[in-house]
Formats: sequence, structure tokens, C-alpha cells
Amino acid sequence: MNQRQKIVVLSGAGVSAESGVATFRDHNGLWENHRIEDVATPEAWRKNPALVLEFYNKRRKQLLEVQPNEAHLLIAELEKYYDVYIITQNVDDLHERAGSTKVLHLHGELKKVRSTLDENLVYHINEIDPKGWELKLGDRCAKGSQLRPHIVWFGELVPMMEEAIRITQTANIMIIIGTSLLVYPAAGLSYYLPKNASIYVIDPQKPDFLFTSPFVKFITQKATTGMKELFKELTKDFIN
Ligand code: APR
Repeated sequence: MNQRQKIVVLSGAGVSAESGVATFRDHNGLWENHRIEDVATPEAWRKNPALVLEFYNKRRKQLLEVQPNEAHLLIAELEKYYDVYIITQNVDDLHERAGSTKVLHLHGELKKVRSTLDENLVYHINEIDPKGWELKLGDRCAKGSQLRPHIVWFGELVPMMEEAIRITQTANIMIIIGTSLLVYPAAGLSYYLPKNASIYVIDPQKPDFLFTSPFVKFITQKATTGMKELFKELTKDFIN
């Protein structure tokens, strides 16, 4: 039995765009309608927790109405042929709902909330709100402190980054899909790949990013179109 090749997928908001989830920096993106410093920083939480809760409640509520798209599904299907690890900057659960089994969320998860006193006290939103989306002032952890979104805000550490680097260091292939590669440390992940690893970048806009590897192939398509093309390429030796 030949050793299955290892694929690491670095995904960003663009992979969920065709599911109807707003990206951050495209036209009419989230950061166009909200100031980051008002809704996605520890200072924002201290200054106006109700506004921060409302921002994430709206996104969590929308998540209940959207479905994984063909790109999520094809990425999950690659697990039939490869050892696939998803490292996502997204806080939605669309990779999991599409069937991917190894998903690491670098920037947190919309459907989880955590204690402001003990960051290890993490709850699924369904444990707090049977509707599955609302977190309110006064919703408290078992130790009595206010619950907050389980999201990595700007200025906070990215605790899963070490694990993400470890996964990347032994990958044969990296698929980078739907990310502007503007936010570090996530954007620098490809630097940890083995020197001879192949990199495929799927994005209708070629990201303005300095790749050090000569093995980069740009597929300047939307996620669903690009993944159809790449899926064929990556499975042609398996499917005769
Ligand atoms: N298919 C593929 N890519 C797309 C599509 C699509 N249909 N639509 C847009 N894109 C691309 C854009 O061209 C852009 O390169 O998706 C990327 C979205 O970039 P951003 O909006 O910056 O999102 P992302 O890269 O995920 O942001 C990284 O920034 O604000 C923080 O924590 C937040 O995780 C987020 C991080």
C-alpha cells in the first residue's frame, strides 16, 4: 500500500463566498461595513461588548442559513485519495459540514463561545442558546464570568499556529484557496513547506504575496471552478 500523499489546505473567506458568506476585504466585505477596531479587538470588547456580541450573533445567525459549496465538498472528497489537513482562517463550520475530518481553525470558531475568566472553558453555542446563534450579556460560564465569542481577535495570539506549522512541515502539496494572504501569521504558512512541495493557489484575484517556492501554480478562478479543475488534476492517476 503506497504511503498516501499529504495535502494541507490553507483556506480563507473566499472558499465560503459562493455559499453566500461575506469575505472581509472584497467589495461590500465585512471590513467595509464595520471597523475592525469596533468589533474584532479586545479593546472593542472592553469598550462595547454588546456591539461585539451583535456582530458575531448576526454572522452566527447567517451561518444557519448557508450550505457548504462545491469547493468545500471537493476538498472533503480529496480525503478518498490523500491525507488531507484543512488549516482554515475561517470561523464558519462549512468545511466540517462538507465532510472534511481534520479541520484546524486558526482564527477560532463562530459556533463556539468561551469564558472570559478561563479560556479553556469553551462551549458550543447550542449549549447557551437552543436557537443556535445568540450570545447575550449575562450569559455566563460555569465559573460565573461573561461568555465571549471563541474568535481570535486582532492583537490576540494565534494558539493553533504551532500545530499548523507542524502539519505543514510534512506536506507534499499545499492548496491555498480564497485568501488574500494579508493576515499573519497564517499568511506565512507556505514558508514552512518542504522545499519540493507543490503549491496550488485558487483565487480569482492573484494574491499579492511573495512565494519563495518555484513550485507555485495559480488557478485564477473562483473556488468552485478552481477546485473542479484541481480535483481532476490531483485524482487523474487514481481515477483511470
Ligand atoms: N472564490 C475564491 N476566492 C475568492 C472568491 C471566490 N468566489 N471571492 C473572493 N475571493 C478571494 C478574494 O480575491 C481574496 O483574495 O478571497 C480572498 C478573501 O480575502 P479576505 O477577504 O482578506 O479574507 P481572508 O484572506 O480570509 O482574511 C484573512 O483576516 O480579517 C481577518 O480574521 C479575518 O480570517 C480573516 C483574515
